[in-house]
Amino acid sequence: MTTRGVAILGSTGSIGTSALRVIARQRSAFHVAALTAFSNAALLAEQAAAFDPSYVGLARAGVTANSGWHHGDECLTEAAERDDVDIVLNAIVGAVGLKATLAGLERGKRVALANKESLVMGGALVMDAARRGGGELVPVDSEHSAILQCIAGRPMSEVRRLVLTASGGPFRTLSASDLEHVTLADALAHPTWRMGRKITVDSATLANKALEVIEAHFLFGVPYDRIDVVVHPQSVVHSFVEFVDGSVLAQMGAPNMELPILYALTYPDRVADDGVSQFDPVAQSPLQFEPVRQREFPALALGIAAGRAGGAAPAVFNAANEQAVALFLEGAIGFNDIAPAIDGALSRHGTAPGGSLDAILAADALARRCVQELLR
Ligand SMILES: NC(=O)c1ccc[n+]([C@@H]2O[C@H](COP(=O)([O-])OP(=O)(O)OC[C@H]3O[C@@H](n4cnc5c(N)ncnc54)[C@H](OP(=O)(O)O)[C@@H]3O)[C@@H](O)[C@H]2O)c1
Repeated sequence: MTTRGVAILGSTGSIGTSALRVIARQRSAFHVAALTAFSNAALLAEQAAAFDPSYVGLARAGVTANSGWHHGDECLTEAAERDDVDIVLNAIVGAVGLKATLAGLERGKRVALANKESLVMGGALVMDAARRGGGELVPVDSEHSAILQCIAGRPMSEVRRLVLTASGGPFRTLSASDLEHVTLADALAHPTWRMGRKITVDSATLANKALEVIEAHFLFGVPYDRIDVVVHPQSVVHSFVEFVDGSVLAQMGAPNMELPILYALTYPDRVADDGVSQFDPVAQSPLQFEPVRQREFPALALGIAAGRAGGAAPAVFNAANEQAVALFLEGAIGFNDIAPAIDGALSRHGTAPGGSLDAILAADALARRCVQELLR
């Protein structure tokens, strides 16, 4: 039996390594056709030896780690476009993932999308690329996977509302003044999910939930006033879909990305897998739901406003957030500096046009420069 070839872009990260565990259990259906990483050449070499892909790429400029590998940024699109690749799992962090998402969709591939930044920056371009090239976008994010599973092929005219759950992050119960004193280590100590550093900080500010609202808007074609967010500290309910008759479906499970990764590979089918342990409702109870504390976590409303504004505003939001988080991760700014920096970039550049890839990339660059000027 032939197996489907998967390109894992960002194979050395949290999602990338989880994806390789999933594929190792599903070798009768999938094989690894391509792997790319950025800086972790040692882990990439181990992965290449274990999975024997036909293409290996290291994106970091100027690093030649292995003569058989491909080097530089262009390895991301090269891997996504290969003929032996059926599914591109985009697990790169940040705006740098956009071109590979577009390339995979334009070549008619399934893009299993963890790199939500792609869709936030270039939502209309990404959806157009899928239409033009015949590619298929399937979410990896647990919330969007949950929504896809709840909708289960029903027409979108039957959907009244999407409700995304948010863990609330490590600072869920802190006051605005407590937030003045939190450290990087505090922000990286997520209560329920083990993830890369950038998304972990985004979960603490709730910028991640803003990215996910914009992602849901483009993926499911639902207007912003029919997408809500509720805080759910246990991360067991991954999201809700409310239908027009008032019925509400939720998808549940332990916080483990291996299930949404597997579903993005096999969708719309389900396959047997022993990687996710049996669900125990008693052990998970009680489940709590709370409103978002908008005043303490302003990044959520800033991102949703950028989504509503359209044009390049979501790209400005995304780039300003990436730049501010990078500075926070370097220890150059405090946690409470992140949202005002995003606000500043949106006030200056939020009306930039966003009709083409060049326009989006120009807005992204302007927003990054703006945040550097505001915070240095
Ligand atoms: N982690 C989760 O549970 C989770 C859940 C939902 C969605 N997501 C989304 O999935 C994406 C990946 O998240 P993650 O937590 O897996 O991040 P991560 O652990 O930081 O991994 C990021 C991956 O991207 C590579 N990379 C970094 N910069 C790059 C560049 N400039 N060019 C090419 N590759 C680059 C890294 O390579 P090196 O390691 O070799 O430097 C690594 O393989 C993000 O968009 C995130 O929002 C993650």
